[in-house]
Amino acid sequence: MKIEQVDVEHLAREYGTPVYVYSLAVLREFIAEIKPLAPVVRYAMKASSNWRILQEMRDQGIKIDAVSVMEVKRALRAGFKMDDICFTSDVFFNSGEADYCLENDVFTNCGTLGMLEEYGRTYQKLGRGRAGVSIRINPGEGAGHSKKTNTGGPYSKHGIWYQNLAEVHRICGQYGLKITGVHIHIGSGGDMEHLKRITGKLVEYAKEFPDVKIVNFGGGLPYQYRTDQPQADISEYRPILEERINVLEKHFGRPITCEIEPGRRFVAGCGYLIGEVRALNHTFDESGKRLDYVLTNIGFCHLLRPMAYGSYHPITFVGGSLGPEQDLIIAGPVCESGDVLTQENEEPVPRKLPLPSAGDLIVVGGAGAYGHVMSSNYNTQPLLPEVVVDGDQTLLARRRQSLDDILKEECPPE
Ligand SMILES: Cc1ncc(COP(=O)(O)O)c(C=O)c1O
Repeated sequence: MKIEQVDVEHLAREYGTPVYVYSLAVLREFIAEIKPLAPVVRYAMKASSNWRILQEMRDQGIKIDAVSVMEVKRALRAGFKMDDICFTSDVFFNSGEADYCLENDVFTNCGTLGMLEEYGRTYQKLGRGRAGVSIRINPGEGAGHSKKTNTGGPYSKHGIWYQNLAEVHRICGQYGLKITGVHIHIGSGGDMEHLKRITGKLVEYAKEFPDVKIVNFGGGLPYQYRTDQPQADISEYRPILEERINVLEKHFGRPITCEIEPGRRFVAGCGYLIGEVRALNHTFDESGKRLDYVLTNIGFCHLLRPMAYGSYHPITFVGGSLGPEQDLIIAGPVCESGDVLTQENEEPVPRKLPLPSAGDLIVVGGAGAYGHVMSSNYNTQPLLPEVVVDGDQTLLARRRQSLDDILKEECPPE
């Protein structure tokens, strides 16, 4: 198996396993597909904040959606200008971050009345910063691949509830703010039908704010992880967004900027996680049926999605003598029985795959979004290296952590 022109065996030998690998060719294909959808396209950098991916976005004219002040600062370090960045959150992490946003002219998108109020108080206290601010609205419904990634509706903490917009006017009046942006993001991993329909609601909310210049329809473009099914057609999103903006431009009699900010659809497909099969194991269930486990060195400390959401990722084994296809449960090295790559609803789910042997490679696909960024040092496992492939070239964009790296923030007694 190759990633662009590079054999996965070569990548494993050169960089060790597990290792995250990103294909620039695939990334560029997804950028080319998404960029025409709206006049301003942001990348939700939470999906992968690898510097080489950020650099590619910047070079291709994609702007940034940051969901923390740390992400704002990381984007600046990757070469974005402050004007390229929109900061969306439901809280300032602490009052120092509110000061930072006002002092540094960060375009801020407030997802709660409390955050908007803190923005206003800080604006008054400092006597500087942008009076123009954006609000994230919870339209009363959402969609996502899991409850945990559905960010709209009554059970989501995100966004100013759509019936509370009068309060927004009150806060703006009190502190001299202007709502120049309105935004929704109803969830991650939902479907196009939902997205298309909900855009109409934002148009109605936008009409309530006479100073609005920017209407941001959020992210949430679907990505199909199953390789036997086609990717959702997203091209039909563009005419819908254009129609929504036309309505608003007619209403206000001036230009309105349309923005979107996907993450997953940009990067999920360009990422692979290469690991190694370390051992086979088997058990027998209550009825005497044999369950075969393939234990690899890829754990939920490296790729959390299967464990957190029961997410499906394509799996390929690479080895000289793979056996016939059979039901296999693919697991990792972490000391916790939930450490299973093939699971749904917190249960291991066998998958038909050719039987590998210890020493063979495992390649997990669709690992570019919410992969490395969600990894941890659980079980004192070092964070993984990230390698970027461009044709026949490879670049180590991030080295493997060492035990010293993990321990360096500890403060043992002298
Ligand atoms: C505010 C915001 N915008 C955009 C996104 C990107 O979503 P997705 O990766 O599904 O496109 C997210 C992620 O949930 C988000 O929280």
